[in-house]
Amino acid sequence: MTDRILIIDFGSQFTQLIARRIREERVYSEIHPPTKSLDWVRDWKPSGIILSGGPASVYDDGVPLADPALLALGVPILGICYGMQLLGQLAGARVIGSSHREYGRAVLDIVEPDELFAGFEPHVGTNVWMSHGDQLEASPSGWRVLARTPTSPVAAFRADDAPLFGVQFHPEVAHTVDGERMLSNFLFRVCDCAGDWTPGSILEEQVDSVKRAAPEGDLICGLSGGVDSSVAAALVHRAVGDRLTCIFVDTGLLRKGERESVEAVFGDHFGFRLEVVDASELFLERLVGVTDPEEKRIRIGHTFIDVFEEAAARCGDARFLVQGTLYPDVIESTSVTGPSAKIKSHHNVGGLRPNLPFALIEPLRELFKDEVRAVGRELGLPEAMIGRHPFPGPGLAVRVLGEVTAERLATLREVDAIYLEEIRDAGLYDEIWQAFAVFLPIRSVGVMGDGRTYDNVVALRAVTSRDGMTADWYPFPPEVLAVMSNRIINEVPGVNRVAYDISSKPPATIEWE
Ligand code: XMP
Repeated sequence: MTDRILIIDFGSQFTQLIARRIREERVYSEIHPPTKSLDWVRDWKPSGIILSGGPASVYDDGVPLADPALLALGVPILGICYGMQLLGQLAGARVIGSSHREYGRAVLDIVEPDELFAGFEPHVGTNVWMSHGDQLEASPSGWRVLARTPTSPVAAFRADDAPLFGVQFHPEVAHTVDGERMLSNFLFRVCDCAGDWTPGSILEEQVDSVKRAAPEGDLICGLSGGVDSSVAAALVHRAVGDRLTCIFVDTGLLRKGERESVEAVFGDHFGFRLEVVDASELFLERLVGVTDPEEKRIRIGHTFIDVFEEAAARCGDARFLVQGTLYPDVIESTSVTGPSAKIKSHHNVGGLRPNLPFALIEPLRELFKDEVRAVGRELGLPEAMIGRHPFPGPGLAVRVLGEVTAERLATLREVDAIYLEEIRDAGLYDEIWQAFAVFLPIRSVGVMGDGRTYDNVVALRAVTSRDGMTADWYPFPPEVLAVMSNRIINEVPGVNRVAYDISSKPPATIEWE
C-alpha cells in the first residue's frame, strides 16, 4: 500500500465522514484514537494526518491532547475544529471561548488561497459548516491566516514553513459546499497522494493477509446469506480454498427461498464446503409461548450459539473463525471515549461466546458497507446478494408479533415473498433501505365470495434510510400498493386485510419488535 491518511479521532460525530470522504477520493484512510504513541504514528507511515473535531474544549480537564512532537514529524497535518484548536495551542496561540458561538452555516472569506484553497477566488464567499464554541484569537507567530468568517478571525490558518493547516469549519460535511475540493487539495496538493486506492485493491491485499494469518489449518465461517458474511466467506475462500467450511444455520425464521438461494450460490455455483444445519424445530420449540420481543431475541441468540458451536465441533479441528465485522463496528469499540456502549444489545444477538477456541479472521474490518459491496462485486457474487436489504439476526421471529408458530411463519413467508416480488417488479427495490411484511396477532372481519371471514391482518413496511439509525416510510405509488394488497389477499389463505405502515424512525423503529 502506498498512500494512507491517518485520522486521529478526538470524538467528533463527523469523524467517520472524514474517512469516507478521503476514501471517496481514492486514498486509503484509517481512524485511530489519540492514545497512539508517536512511535506508532511514525511506524504507520502516514502520508498525511488529520486531527478530527471533538466535543471538548482544550481547557477542559482530562481532554485528549496531541503530542507536540507530532508537528515535527515532517508529515502534513490538517486540524479540523477541535483539531485546529489543538494545533493552534501547540503552536502557542491563545484559544478563547468565543462570545459568538458558531453553529451551522457561515460564509468563509478566503484571504489567501494557498495550497489548501487552490482554485478558490480570494474574497468570494463560500458556505461552510461550523460547530464550535472555542476559537483562536489570532494566528500564532510563524503561522498565517488563510480565511476568516464574520465571527472567526482565524477560520483557517497554516504554518509558514511547514505543511501544517487548520480549519475551524467542517470540510467533511455536505453543508460545506466546497469541502470536497478543500479535502482533495489537502490530499493531492499538500500530501501528494496518488489517489489509486480502490476497494478492489484491498481485495488482493486482504486475500494475502488471510493467507498469512491462516497459513495452515481449517477455517469456519457462519454464513447467513446477508451481504457481510457472504463477502467475507467468498474473500476467505479465495485465499484458502477448501480449508474453509461455511456453516449455514436454517433457523426456520428465514424468508422464503433463503436457504435454497444460499445453497445455490455457495454450494452449487461457487462449490464451497457448505454445512447446512436445519435447526428450525429446535428454534420453534424454544420459542413456544414467548411473546416478549427481548425474550425472543435472547432465546434465539442462545439457540444460535448452541447450534453453531455444535456444528463447528463437527468440522474437525478448525482453528480459525471468519467473521464479517465491518469498519463501523471496529470504530465503535475503539473510539476516543474507549469501548462504547452505543450498539443496541439486540443487534449483538447472534454473537458468539468470547472464549471460543478460535483465532478470528475479519477480512472486512477496514471497510464500510458500500466498499464491502464493491469487493463482493469484484469477487463475482451475484448482484441480488450484494444489493440485499438488511435482515435482522432474529429473522421473522421479530416480524411475527406475539407468539411465533410454524403456521404464522408460513403465512408471513408467503406474504413477504409477494411483497418483495412486487417491489422488484416495480423497479423500486434499490430505492428502499429495507422492506418487509409483519404478521399481526389480531384478526379482522372481511367478506370473500358471499361469506364472512374472520382472518389475519398483515402490515407492510418499507423505509428509506442512510444507516438504519433514522428512517422515513417509503411513499409507494398507490397503484403499486393496490397490486400488492390484491395479490396478498387473493393468494395467501388466511389473510383478509393488509395495512401499510406510515411511521418514521424516530419515534417508531424499523422493526415492529
Ligand atoms: P430498529 O428496529 O432498531 O432497526 O429501528 C434498525 C436496524 O437494525 C435491524 N435490527 C436487527 N438486526 N438483530 C439484528 O441483527 C436484531 O435483533 C435487530 N433488530 C433490528 C433492523 O432490521 C434495521 O436494519
